[in-house]
Amino acid sequence: MERMLGRHRAPTWGLSRRMLCCKWPRTRLPVGASALCFFVLCWLYIFPVYRLPEQKEVVREVLQHVGVWRRNLTAATQFRSLLQDCCDPGHSLALTKQNTPVGKNLWFDGELFHSVTIDTATRSLFPQNSPFKLPLKKCSVVGNGGILKGSGCGKKIDQADFVMRCNLPPLSSDYSKDVGAKTQLVTANPSIIKNRFQNLLWSRKAFVNSVRIYNHSHVYMPAFSMKGCTEPSLRVYYSLADVGANQSVLFANPDFLSSISKFWKNKGIHGKRLSTGLFLVSSALGLCEEVTIYGFWPFSIDLLGKSISHHYYDNRLPDTGFHAMPEEFLQLWFLHKSGVLRMQLEQCEDPGV
Ligand SMILES: *[C@@H]1O[C@H](CO)[C@@H](O)[C@H](O)[C@H]1NC(C)=O
Ligand SMILES: *[C@@H]1O[C@H](CO)[C@@H](O)[C@H](O)[C@H]1NC(C)=O
Ligand SMILES: *[C@@H]1O[C@H](CO)[C@@H](O)[C@H](O)[C@H]1NC(C)=O
Repeated sequence: MERMLGRHRAPTWGLSRRMLCCKWPRTRLPVGASALCFFVLCWLYIFPVYRLPEQKEVVREVLQHVGVWRRNLTAATQFRSLLQDCCDPGHSLALTKQNTPVGKNLWFDGELFHSVTIDTATRSLFPQNSPFKLPLKKCSVVGNGGILKGSGCGKKIDQADFVMRCNLPPLSSDYSKDVGAKTQLVTANPSIIKNRFQNLLWSRKAFVNSVRIYNHSHVYMPAFSMKGCTEPSLRVYYSLADVGANQSVLFANPDFLSSISKFWKNKGIHGKRLSTGLFLVSSALGLCEEVTIYGFWPFSIDLLGKSISHHYYDNRLPDTGFHAMPEEFLQLWFLHKSGVLRMQLEQCEDPGV
């Protein structure tokens, strides 16, 4: 330990360096302490501790890079081909008739050893092919972080050709200045269907009306991720199909979700489950030529150090331990710095305008 310290300090303490070296042999740690040191070093070697930075450090780091971002086409293309090799977002994002024949055993990605066999009735709910005309050009992926509040980013978000959003977020006129209005793909977590719409067991009108704001969007649902997800997802499908709504359900492909999870696990993300946001960004990086992400900021202060709410629309905190948000953030920040995607964290327009 002391040696490491000595080394680090040596360059600044040029003169005393030799003294430190001379003193070196005389340092005598008790045997127990040396053994402990040795043990700790071995432990660290086997299980490196990734110290996650404090949010103030993250803010400082972000501020150093504001305004200097450049897209790196080479890096973006490389990353897209990595995603293509592991996960093939273009064909695998959603279940389609093409990628899911009758009789296919679909393993749930969020359960141990649970699968369903796809029958004709279930398969008939899938579109023939992936509904997206690829490659998509400019994509906005909108997370729901409180940093969007007062950002004035709505116009910029809507300028993209394709806008993806997470978990049926509110888009009323109170928010559109900051988050925009356009949506082509929105994810819906079955737990929202349970909590906000009584699992669609009673009236479906409130639900059908509430998703009108998503215009002609696809509603992307993880119907085959956990056992409890299937029924609410199918109810959403029928609720929308039966009234001829402009929104249509796409069922997430559990093989795709698990391959994306593996991809990020290999890059060191330790959460039990990836956040929806990271799934969406990964999909966008595979589908789109240019990706800008908004509202991906899991910290409780903004770039000025002011405290902010957790979401742009409320301050409900997530379950801790389920997602590894700061870790995910650091991965995305790395992609931002390498020019693979652009992460918008600063305001787009002065909210006063
Ligand atoms: C762009 O990315 C490639 C691959 O990661 C890298 O080799 C190159 O130096 C980057 N170019 C710039 C200008 O940063
Ligand atoms: C809704 O969809 C229509 C038709 O595709 C389009 O003209 C309109 O701009 C969309 N509205 C929003 C808010 O995106
Ligand atoms: C569906 O979209 C069409 C064309 O954009 C629009 O005229 C119609 O009002 C929409 N239907 C509903 C129920 O919102």
